[in-house]
Parts: sequence; C-alpha cells; structure tokens
Amino acid sequence: MKRIIIINGPNLNLLGKREPEIYGGVTFADYFSELTEKYASISLSYFQSNIEGELIDKLHEVGFNYDGIILNAAAYTHTSVGIGDAVKAIETPVIEVHISNVYAREDFRHHSYVSPNASGIVIGMGMKGYELAINAFMNA
Ligand code: DQA
Repeated sequence: MKRIIIINGPNLNLLGKREPEIYGGVTFADYFSELTEKYASISLSYFQSNIEGELIDKLHEVGFNYDGIILNAAAYTHTSVGIGDAVKAIETPVIEVHISNVYAREDFRHHSYVSPNASGIVIGMGMKGYELAINAFMNA
C-alpha cells in the first residue's frame, strides 16, 4: 500500500475560517476525511504545524520511507531556506501545493524555496489541488 502524507504549514489549521474568499469554507479535517474515504486503497496521513522546525522534523521523519509527500508550506514557502534544504535532502518526492494562485497575489508570494526541489507543483486549484497531487502519486 502506498504511503502518502499531506503536510500543511502555518495558518492552514484555520482553513474554513481564514479568508474564505481565498481559501474556501471547508475545514481541512472535513476535507481530509473525504479524501481518506475516497482513497481507501492508499495509506494517507496528515500533519500540520505552525512551527518551521516541526515541519522540517516531519520531512526528515517521512522523507526516506514514504512514497510521496504533498507539501503546502504556506508562508514558509516564500521565506524558509531550511524547508527548501529539507526538501532537497530527503529521498521521497515532494509535490508542492498552493490552494490559491500565488502568482495572482502579492510579489512576495511569487518566490518559492520549495519549487526547485519539488517533483511537481499544483497551484491555484483550490482544495482540489491536494487531490490532484494524490492522483499524480497514485499514477506514478
Ligand atoms: C498558500 C499561499 C501562501 O502564499 C500563503 O502564505 C498561505 C497559503 C496557499 O495554499 O495558497 O498561507 O500556500
């Protein structure tokens, strides 16, 4: 059974409440339970942290034994050399996801420390982006 993890960065614990005009009105817990039902043939797990080092620790923990990592590093995407280096250091392929189209937003969201070492990127497809990334790993 393929092991895939979704890792969400800072403020994404507020999905459903936070700027719903940008990020939608669904909580990640509700969305994740839909995903686990729909993709019962894979082992799907979820981790969220607002703390940069915890995200790096999780990437190290799963990055040598999982089949795929779906990473929305949120604001740290644009600031964290450490998360970029962690993505480079691990073996498991990483698909970078952003719910919103970061290129249609402020300039500081146009740079990503994750992208150069991601195996693929899904941007601006809403919450559905996570599912598109799961499909990419399932078909890999
Ligand atoms: C985000 C985009 C980031 O710029 C922002 O800081 C987030 C969420 C997205 O999923 O659209 O927190 O990663």
